[in-house]
Amino acid sequence: MLDIAFAPPTPPRAGALVLLIGEGERPAGVGAQVDKATGGALTRALETAEFTGGKGKTCVMLAPGAGLTRVIAVGLGKRDVLTRRGLEDAGGHAMASLGRDTTATIAADGLSAEQAADVALGAALRFYRFDRYRTNEKPEDKPKLTGLEVLTDEDEAASVAFVPRVGVANGVFLSRDLVSEPANILNPAEMARRCEGLRELGVDVEVLGPAELAALGFGALLGVSQGSANEPRVVVMQWRGTGDAGTGKPLAFIGKGVTFDTGGISIKPAGGMEDMKWDMAGAGAVVGLMGALAGRKARAHVVGIVGLVENMPSATAQRPGDVVTSLSGQTIEVINTDAEGRLVLADVLWYCQQRFDPAFMIDLATLTGAIIIGLGHEHAGLFSNDDALVEKLLAAGIESGEKLWRMPLSDEYDKQIKSEIADMKNVGGRPAGSITGAQFVKRFVNGKPWAHLDIAGMAWSSKDAPTRPKGATAFGVRLLDQLVAAHYEH
Ligand code: BES
Ligand code: MN
Ligand code: ZN
Repeated sequence: MLDIAFAPPTPPRAGALVLLIGEGERPAGVGAQVDKATGGALTRALETAEFTGGKGKTCVMLAPGAGLTRVIAVGLGKRDVLTRRGLEDAGGHAMASLGRDTTATIAADGLSAEQAADVALGAALRFYRFDRYRTNEKPEDKPKLTGLEVLTDEDEAASVAFVPRVGVANGVFLSRDLVSEPANILNPAEMARRCEGLRELGVDVEVLGPAELAALGFGALLGVSQGSANEPRVVVMQWRGTGDAGTGKPLAFIGKGVTFDTGGISIKPAGGMEDMKWDMAGAGAVVGLMGALAGRKARAHVVGIVGLVENMPSATAQRPGDVVTSLSGQTIEVINTDAEGRLVLADVLWYCQQRFDPAFMIDLATLTGAIIIGLGHEHAGLFSNDDALVEKLLAAGIESGEKLWRMPLSDEYDKQIKSEIADMKNVGGRPAGSITGAQFVKRFVNGKPWAHLDIAGMAWSSKDAPTRPKGATAFGVRLLDQLVAAHYEH
């Protein structure tokens, strides 16, 4: 992570300087001092650019004098409606406007310690890069920034406020790393090993391998995995952040972790199949969330379980028409081997509620292409049997910027997955494809409070955003961290 420090507000003598300017304001504090030192260059530049401090607007001034390489004005919009999201975005915009500077300073004078820490978090999140496999990048293509200083009167309080945010940022980075990794590196066993890295943060991590899964009866999950030379894993992670471990029911988060989805025998077309390396993004979000909660020492008891498999066609692969017996005892006719995520979730959800009797279960899965048709890349689909949980999730979505849109469930849709030979089939035809996927998953929650997030449209982005470069988004980590922080910590 970018090295970030907080210091009292004195104008820097070198490097890039970022000024955060509210709607209709002129440079104040450090900004006013630099304006004076440059003979009013900032005022003139901002006027010429007609910069008025509008939210998300930026204005870059090159070599304005006073030893600075550039001054970047970032608009905050109206101060009275300034949110944490807005502050994080401002930090992100600042980073995106830097040039070849080695040092940068953000003047956050006028903001509270918490607000300055939010700006710093946004900057850190934007600075992320997945460059593990670039061996010959030219120096001029690499970021040169070595450190960021954030100026605030409350520098000590801001440093303290920044500590839990670093924990959250590291959870986000862990999730982005996992989702970015190619599938030849990140197979189920490797992903399980990376989960074990969470032990350093105090997370309990148990790994179940194929023999244990077979003995327990994970028939639906094992059916998906049986065509692959890479063995499956189920990883159970627990963060006991409450002093009274074991009394209250834990919160449970479950992730689809298909490390590569070829479709199996119902094989996918070649075009775009490489995207299916991120078919483990639900699991990636759960692992990142556990990292975030442990990293900021959240006062909650949380269980995270991920089902890790690779979906391949081979001589040992399951066939369309096969009937598998799930851990719950319910039988499933596998009509389409490409509808594999729900088969994985079925066993992991059943296992979770049997073993932990959680307060609720929330699963995340890149489950259906149909959710992208319905909601595009703006909202994840939310399906739930619990209205109170829905309200909390929708609010957390708005707060975190990881937005959800509720979709319906009902017995009529459930009829679409009736089978002639088994208790159900794994596909319900083209109409309402995301809903029938959710109806299938619902059959394995045993009536427990549950929400299903179909994140197929949200896990990967072809465009960058203020607080992230394009690529893996870590969608779900901030959302669910926010949910826990707002309602379940004491
Ligand atoms: N992993 C895919 C869904 C997906 C598609 C995620 C595009 C991200 C981008 C899932 O396993 C799948 O293949 N779903 C099928 C379901 C169908 C066979 C009922 C789909 O969406 O076509
Ligand atoms: Mn599939
Ligand atoms: Zn899939």
